[in-house]
Amino acid sequence: MGSISCFAVIVLALVLNSAVYSNGGKTSVYVRKVEKAVDMPLNSNVFRVPSGYNAPQQVHITQGDQVGKAVIVSWVTEDEPGSSTVLYWSENSKQKKKAEGKVNTYKFYNYTSGYIHHCTIKNLEYDTKYYYVVGVGHTTRKFWFTTPPEVGSDVPYTFGLIGDLGQTFDSNITLSHYEQNPHKGQTVLYLGDLSYADAYPNHDNVRWDTWGRFVERSVAYQPWIWTAGNHEIDFVPEIGETKPFKPYTNRYHVPYRASKSTAPFWYSIKRASACIIVLSSYSAYAKYTPQYQWLEQELPKVNRTETPWLIVLMHSPWYNSYNYHYMEGETMRVMYEPWFVQYKVDVVFAGHVHAYERSERVSNIAYNVINGMCTPVKDQSAPVYITVGDGGNLEGLATNMTEPQPAYSAYREASFGHAIFGIKNRTHAYYSWHRNHDGSAVEADSMWFFNRFWHPVDESPTSH
Ligand SMILES: [Fe+2]
Repeated sequence: MGSISCFAVIVLALVLNSAVYSNGGKTSVYVRKVEKAVDMPLNSNVFRVPSGYNAPQQVHITQGDQVGKAVIVSWVTEDEPGSSTVLYWSENSKQKKKAEGKVNTYKFYNYTSGYIHHCTIKNLEYDTKYYYVVGVGHTTRKFWFTTPPEVGSDVPYTFGLIGDLGQTFDSNITLSHYEQNPHKGQTVLYLGDLSYADAYPNHDNVRWDTWGRFVERSVAYQPWIWTAGNHEIDFVPEIGETKPFKPYTNRYHVPYRASKSTAPFWYSIKRASACIIVLSSYSAYAKYTPQYQWLEQELPKVNRTETPWLIVLMHSPWYNSYNYHYMEGETMRVMYEPWFVQYKVDVVFAGHVHAYERSERVSNIAYNVINGMCTPVKDQSAPVYITVGDGGNLEGLATNMTEPQPAYSAYREASFGHAIFGIKNRTHAYYSWHRNHDGSAVEADSMWFFNRFWHPVDESPTSH
């Protein structure tokens, strides 16, 4: 075979191997056997209870204020309340300080929780490594975290993205891949649906505890920023559980008051060069509701000189071309999408659909009921919408897609995985998605993001 025809065969083979093209973007032909994702058994190593009487377990941290100078430390003690004090010191000063927290318990049907402690450490230095100790007497446990750099333009910072994790063997692979990723996420933006305890009879809250122990190996050392998903609702009137979000709100605190929010389901934080707005797909969002009023006031406050990157997190995606949860985000999209375009949101991350998808920069805000303009159009003021609901929970993969691939969908693949959003400066961020089936350094999808405020030119890999 001549070298030219040989080259053509290789190119054709590569194209056929990598993707199927439609009028939209790429649908990966990376197809795996659909196996049921199975929860790890209760006696799994990752669920091990730490040794020692009343040992603190399920240790987790999140940002504790608006700018990253405070951290909320949370943990559970099983035998007795013990102490809610956190002892902490910076790597530099060695002078030990104490912060006082609070303890609470809750009941859920026939389950009674352990003693859940929440303690906010305040007035930390930026960009500093801190050690912290929880527990008392002979049973103390020591962890550490690094505070973010001071909020400001051009501050590099790397976020990990994980959604719908659950606690299966696949979930464990996803978390391990995230931990081993050479891009090294410094904070996780968590896209909702945590433990999937509600898959068990009476929403067996023991599975909230096992999840807390499973993820401790990451979330005790770097903050996870929480978004509420449908599996956090835990609304079971048949057994008298009529207060939605009870286990979630008891276990996972967020700094919502710092951004003048009135509920823990929608709030904002600033971290390094990013403003992150968390929204709730499962709280009221129509006009005049608290979430609507808060977002209406919040978006004009975002200062793109201080925080060039505007990132929104929600559970239910607005642009989703899988036949799972199709159009569930539609009513919220209709309410808020004009604002996202007006305020030039850079990227919207969602979960819920158990697969991966990245959109083009599109908007669908021209429709006024009678003009017929109801198809998404390319819009350089619009965000990219990314679904990372592929953490690996027991419900398994979403494999069934709408065909043909819609024009708004740039890349989609039914694989478990995680993503990384690495901010380099005010204009550039490097994004990558990593499927579990590859080594953790392999990028199955990637894209350079150009900031919508500072460098709003077309960066779509499929536009060239
Ligand atoms: Fe969900």
